[in-house]
Amino acid sequence: MGAFFGANRFKFGMFGLNCAGGMTLSSAPERWRADWDEIAEVAKMADDAGVEFLLPIAKWHGLGGEADMWGRSFETFTQAAALGAITKNIGLFVTAHVSLLTPAFAAKAITTIDHVTHGRAGINVVCGWNPDEFDMHGVTIDPDLRYAKGLEWFRIYDKLLKGGGEFDWDGEFYKLRGLVTDPLPVQKSPPVMSAAQSGDGQVFAAQAADILFSSMHSVDQVRDMVQRQQGLAAQYGRSTDVYVETQIVCRPTRKEAEEYAHYYAVEHADQGALEYFRRMKAGTLSKSTREANSVSDKAVLASVKPAERKYPGIFPGMYPLVGSPDDIVEELAKLEAIGVAGSALVFLNYLKEFPYFSQEVLPRMKRAGLRL
Ligand SMILES: Cc1cc2nc3c(=O)[nH]c(=O)nc-3n(C[C@H](O)[C@H](O)[C@H](O)COP(=O)(O)O)c2cc1C
Repeated sequence: MGAFFGANRFKFGMFGLNCAGGMTLSSAPERWRADWDEIAEVAKMADDAGVEFLLPIAKWHGLGGEADMWGRSFETFTQAAALGAITKNIGLFVTAHVSLLTPAFAAKAITTIDHVTHGRAGINVVCGWNPDEFDMHGVTIDPDLRYAKGLEWFRIYDKLLKGGGEFDWDGEFYKLRGLVTDPLPVQKSPPVMSAAQSGDGQVFAAQAADILFSSMHSVDQVRDMVQRQQGLAAQYGRSTDVYVETQIVCRPTRKEAEEYAHYYAVEHADQGALEYFRRMKAGTLSKSTREANSVSDKAVLASVKPAERKYPGIFPGMYPLVGSPDDIVEELAKLEAIGVAGSALVFLNYLKEFPYFSQEVLPRMKRAGLRL
């Protein structure tokens, strides 16, 4: 794992700064606009506060609805290089749609960021779900093959970064000649994350990733997912940490936090965007999900069907942490207790809300022994 990960028992990342709307399905006027100067400011704040990493969303198409969440987005490799140049310690993930990039391109681009940042680059591998995005590139998502193809892609990328001379690749999906990359990254092995939530995605992460970044539909589902992931990774002689995504609504009192969450995630929930997401996601479900193989697969299946949710404006699979600073720390401690190693933070407006989180929650995490 990259040096920037340090020794905190529970790690934090900042998720979705590069996209309008961030990760919130809300039309509230103060929602995140992905203005570059604001992104840069939050990145610097997170760096100063000791947050471990910045994690962008790979997006080419918005979700429509009232606010067109993600309709505006910055490309993740170029953004990571730029943010790396204005920060000091924080890790910079790129999020790579593997079917849109050759392994040789990704290896060189990651290495470039790793040199610019003196060893702070990481890759989040995503195999994609929205056909509308892939149509822009003339690429078709095959939900039954995406992880097999992704794994072969990863093996080539990984071999390139290990050095050891030119090689050819004769695989099922890739036939490539004279593969080589120079320089090699500063880190021996830039951290690999895999963002996925199906059982098939877990098998992929067990073979390729240091971190499975996944959805959290309930405590029981994540407890099961962590245990399953540990078992799967052990089968390959590896270990894969599990991180989840958390929506933070933190106010001095629980009542204030609940009122604010109600305002932006109920009154201003973008139902049109949610419906579009469910429709597109339902069309490319992984095989394990269609067969409802694991607790997580069942949760994904349920999440693409219309259902009563307390906060419809909070993304399906995003765990809402709504309350006072003490409430938030209590919930995060519960996650750590079931084996979750970290979480990627989401706020309606990162610039307005992160300072309070940093001031009130981070010191409490330290007192709770969860962070140094
Ligand atoms: C926490 C999380 C973050 C994700 N981030 C992205 C992303 O940035 N871009 C994207 O196209 N897909 C993203 N995905 C979806 C992945 O592309 C994945 O391929 C998709 O969820 C289908 O695989 P699955 O059935 O294993 O979940 C994300 C998924 C999860 C669970």
